[in-house]
Amino acid sequence: MALYAIGDLHLSFNSNKSMEVFGDGWFNYIDRIKAGFESLEATDTTVLCGDISWGMSLKESLNDFLFIEGLPGKKIILKGNHDYWWTTVTKMNTFFEANNIKSIEILNNNCYYYNEVAICGTRGWMREDDFSSEENKKVATRENMRLRASLEAAIKAEIKICFIHYPPITKGKDYCDFIPLMNEYGVKTCVYAHLHNVDQQNTEQLQGVIDGIDYKMVSSDYLSFIPQKIMM
Ligand SMILES: [Fe+2]
Ligand SMILES: [Fe+2]
Repeated sequence: MALYAIGDLHLSFNSNKSMEVFGDGWFNYIDRIKAGFESLEATDTTVLCGDISWGMSLKESLNDFLFIEGLPGKKIILKGNHDYWWTTVTKMNTFFEANNIKSIEILNNNCYYYNEVAICGTRGWMREDDFSSEENKKVATRENMRLRASLEAAIKAEIKICFIHYPPITKGKDYCDFIPLMNEYGVKTCVYAHLHNVDQQNTEQLQGVIDGIDYKMVSSDYLSFIPQKIMM
C-alpha cells in the first residue's frame, strides 16, 4: 500500500491529439503509462495532477477515463489547464457512476485521506506573460481560496500534502501566494506537474527542500511515465 503521484497523462483516445508530436520523449506514451502502473496494486492510491485528458467534454473523454479505471488502485484527480472536459463535481460524479467508473475521486475544494495523511490541492495558475492584469490576479486569488478550502477541510490532519498542477513558483515568484498558505497550514510536501520536456539535469526547476517545503515535480514525461512514490 503506497501513495503515488503523476501529472499530465494527456490521454487522447477520442480526441486525436497524441503527445507523440512533441518529440521522442513521448513515443508510445500510452503503453508506457500502462507499463508504469504495472507494479501498483489495488490498495495503492495515485494522485493524477492535472492535464488528464484532451477531450473537450466528459463524453469525449470517456475512453480516457475507462483507461484510467483499468489502471490499478484508487486515483484522485485534480484539474490541469488542458482539462476542458472538467465540469461541476456533481456532473463528473454522475458521469462516472453512469459509466461504472469506481476508482476515480475528484479533488476540488475538499481533501482525501491516505491513512492519516491529508491529500489537498488545486490547479494553481501561471501566466508569466502578464501577471499584473486584473483577470490574472482574479484567477490567482481564486486558486488561493481553493487551496485554502482544501487545507481547511483537512484541518485536523497532522500531515497535509499539497498537489498542484502548475508549479507553485514561476520565475522565482509565488503569484498565488501558495507558500505562505502552505506554511500557515504546516504543509511540508508540495507536488506539482505541468512542465514538459524538462531536462533531467536541469537544476532550475523547483525540486527538493526549500524553506522547509519539499517540492517534487511529477510530470509524466519527466518520470518516464512511472508514477512517483510519495509515501508508503
Ligand atoms: Fe501538461
Ligand atoms: Fe498543464
